[in-house]
Amino acid sequence: MRKIILLLFVTVSLQAQITGNERFYATMALHDAEELQQDFPKEVRIIAKKGNEVAVYLTEHAGHKLHNRVLVHGPGFIYKASKEAALASLQRSPKNTRIALDFTITEDALVQEAMNAVNTQNIADHIEELEDYGSRYHSTASGRQAALDLKANWEAMAADYGRTDVSVRLYNHSATNMPSVIMTIEGAEFPDEIIVIGGHLDSTSFEPTTNAPGADDDASGIATITEATRTLFEIDFVPKRTIEVMAYAAEEIGLVGSAEIAEAYSNNNIDVAAVAQFDMTLFNGSATDISFITDFTNATLNNYMMQLLDHYNSTGTHAITYSTSLCNYGCSDHASWTAEGYMSTFPFEANFGDHNSAIHTPGDTFDLAGNADHSAKFAKLGAAFLIEASKSNGALGLDEATLNAVTVSYTTGQIQYAFIGNTIQFAEVVLYDILGKKIMTQDIVSQIGTLSVSSLQTGLYIASFITEGRGAVSKKVLIKN
Ligand code: BES
Ligand code: ZN
Repeated sequence: MRKIILLLFVTVSLQAQITGNERFYATMALHDAEELQQDFPKEVRIIAKKGNEVAVYLTEHAGHKLHNRVLVHGPGFIYKASKEAALASLQRSPKNTRIALDFTITEDALVQEAMNAVNTQNIADHIEELEDYGSRYHSTASGRQAALDLKANWEAMAADYGRTDVSVRLYNHSATNMPSVIMTIEGAEFPDEIIVIGGHLDSTSFEPTTNAPGADDDASGIATITEATRTLFEIDFVPKRTIEVMAYAAEEIGLVGSAEIAEAYSNNNIDVAAVAQFDMTLFNGSATDISFITDFTNATLNNYMMQLLDHYNSTGTHAITYSTSLCNYGCSDHASWTAEGYMSTFPFEANFGDHNSAIHTPGDTFDLAGNADHSAKFAKLGAAFLIEASKSNGALGLDEATLNAVTVSYTTGQIQYAFIGNTIQFAEVVLYDILGKKIMTQDIVSQIGTLSVSSLQTGLYIASFITEGRGAVSKKVLIKN
């Protein structure tokens, strides 16, 4: 028996000498570092401690072993480019967020329209497209190509909708050759206040450079945020605040891409009001649909996300249930923003432990789920988050005259509407209750019309007049039956 253990040990340490003997700096949980040190005493050195966090100097081999344990909920580390960076990160006390959201829910009609526009097949197609790179490991040519292609994809999407307020850039990193990709929708009223939605584009597995499909982790997140953004274009949503859609590079080797971005944003005093991370949305593993990771995220923002779900997704075709759980370490890019004092939230595919067990293996493929139904729920939440956090600046392409042309009133069991002197043709009127539930839809056939509402309860409703492809005008109306 002892011989076998000895042999095993020799093989393992020999392996370490052949590959992965390069050392690097990182930060991680004290407990995890101590355990790893017991397994690989020569490969892990703790260079500083602060509370439950340590800065370490370790071999790539040890780092890899550590990362693999994540399959059964293990520890992770956060890569640092130098000893100084590791020590500094340990000492860094997060700044407070400079601006806070108002955390209101005011955009009912637009969120309803956006959720209706979510196309599950788009998400499925995008996941499979990303899977087809074979590997998106940060150091591979295919990983880099995936980033260049995503930039082109996002540019084409914005162009399709004629959006001149949208731009896409590559964000080059110092610690990896893979760039992150950032799509910006310029805020019309508060361009300096930024709402971030993100996921990581890179993938990994135990055959990282050749077979790392990363369908759930995290092609699903990229496909989800892409579709959420497309629904905003579909409804001609123009935000007051700037929206940035981020596909991070090199998350799997220690949050490298997002850490560089969050640090640069913080150093430049960029006002990021809220960050939502979408990492793994494909696999439906728990009784509830969405599980909010409550550590390394912001409680107020998490609550707001849950309020959005209560408001928009408690019943009906868009019903979504939720719960909360812990990752126990900074397990994805939201932690990079949290570390810089920004508010982040991380809605996750299942309760921790119920999640897809095929991640980080060649088995993390789309086929495992077979459809993107689960991801579509996250796209709806993503759209609601983007719209409510950034707020509408009015419909694109609808001039003042058109916006003012709509009049709505209520008299005895009927809503009457009229369009006075406008040029744009309205196609459809949709009535929502104050909880955002769609009550009725009617085609618009002339410049005046009525909706029969005598069966509805007394209360405030929202009538949304939708044009052929250019946007909507929403008006509140009090029904007194
Ligand atoms: N998507 C995972 C994180 C994850 C896995 C969250 C399982 C919840 C359940 C992510 O891509 C990842 O693998 N992160 C690394 C951490 C990072 C600091 C290297 C990990 O968990 O090892
Ligand atoms: Zn991963």
